[in-house]
Parts: sequence; structure tokens; C-alpha cells
Amino acid sequence: MNAPKSPAVTAANWPYPRFIAHRGAGKLAPENTLAAFRLGASFGYRMFEFDVKLSADGKPILMHDATLDRTTSGAGRVDGLTLGELAQLDAGAWHSPGYAGEAVATLAAIARYTQANGLHSNIEIKPVPGREAQTGAAVALDAQVLWRDAAVPPLLSSFSEEALAAARQAVPDLPRALLVDALPVDWLERARALGCVALDANYRVLDAQLIAAAHAAGLRVLSYTVNDPERAAQLLGWGLDGLITDGIDVIAPVE
Ligand code: G3P
Ligand code: MG
Repeated sequence: MNAPKSPAVTAANWPYPRFIAHRGAGKLAPENTLAAFRLGASFGYRMFEFDVKLSADGKPILMHDATLDRTTSGAGRVDGLTLGELAQLDAGAWHSPGYAGEAVATLAAIARYTQANGLHSNIEIKPVPGREAQTGAAVALDAQVLWRDAAVPPLLSSFSEEALAAARQAVPDLPRALLVDALPVDWLERARALGCVALDANYRVLDAQLIAAAHAAGLRVLSYTVNDPERAAQLLGWGLDGLITDGIDVIAPVE
């Protein structure tokens, strides 16, 4: 593999915007589809969080749930279908008629769209149960290739420490963030053990002291899913580095 052309992302060399659309801006448009990214970009969002898992044949695709039922015309586990079979599904009709026919997005398509439009990516590695290490490694390896010419690499994140460890082993240079819902007492040790550049926490566990402690330890801090403008302002006032939101229509991405 070629060495990345872009300088390494560190807490000191942090290239990402503060405002990040959640699930590709997937509230007003069907989550994790290209249509959602396009809508988010039309609201001025320059960075997107999205969920990636593997098809039966090991291809990275965008999907939040472990099963297809909620957000597509299919049913059963996402890794029960090949990429070719997933391509036959409708990933937009469940949301609203205007999005009927929207395709399941591949990581490759999102890589092309975001780079062509100068947009940043936060790839949440979200393995189906039992495929943590495989997903972490595969997503990192594909991301390395798909973003090989990018000025700024995608930020990888995951609740799965096993997936993050596998991503690190596969492509050590891609930046990583440790996702936490509840805050473990040893969050800093866990983040450091995985070589993370950032902590990405549920906003309910964050306060000014914690953000300051993470900064003092050399980590950036992101937070999800912040949809209330007042709460967003409070978190940003505490020094939050990345705000992941569904509220693209109520939170203006003013950097
Ligand atoms: O990446 C942060 C956030 O997306 C985690 O929650 O369930 O929406 O993927 P979820
Ligand atoms: Mg997510």
C-alpha cells in the first residue's frame, strides 16, 4: 500500500469542520443514502457521519441497523445479501414517496461524491454482530484506497473496540475516534490503547470538565446526536470539536 499523501491527522492538526450531519443528513431524507448527503450539502453541511457494515460478499455499504427491515424493501440480516442483491433494494420508499427508488449506498459511491464536492467523512464502523474485526479491517482497507488522493482522510469511529483495533492494524494511519454511549471510567486508557485522536460521546455524558480533560490529554471531542440548538451552543461553548446532528434545518453549520 502507498503511504498517504495527506499529513497525519492529530489533535493539533485537526482538519475537520465542527458541524457534522448524522447518517448523511438522514432525517429529512432517507438515512445513509446519497440523497441524504445531497440534502445535507444543500444546507451547507461540509462533513457527514454515516454507518458502514459489510454485505455477504464483504463489500462496505451504508446501513445503520443489522437488519434490512426498517430502512429498505428487504428483510433479514444485512450480511445475508451480496452487494448485487442489496443493489436491487429500495432504500428510500420507507422514508417518503419522493425518495422511492433510492439505492443502498456503497462506501465507494460516498467516497466519490464527498471528494468531488470537497466534503469530509466520518465513517462509523458498525459491524453486524460477530463480524467486528472483519468489518474494521475491510472498511479501513477500502477507505485507504477510496480516499488515496484526498487531502483529508476520513475519520473512522466505532463503538466496537475490536473493530477499531482491526482497523488500526490494517491501516494504522487512518485517524480513529472511540465512540461511547455511557462513559467508561477508563475512557482515556481505552482511547489511548487504540491510538485514537478523538473521543466521540453521547452528548448526555459530556460537560465542560470532561471536554477540557480530553483536550488536556491530547484528544479532540465529538458528540452525537445533538438536535437542540441551545444544547449545541452550550457544547460548542465548552469547546466541542465536532457536533453530529440530525437538525440540519435548525442548526446552521457556521464554522
Ligand atoms: O456516530 C455517532 C452516532 O451515529 C452513533 O449512534 O446509532 O446513530 O449510529 P447511531
Ligand atoms: Mg452512526
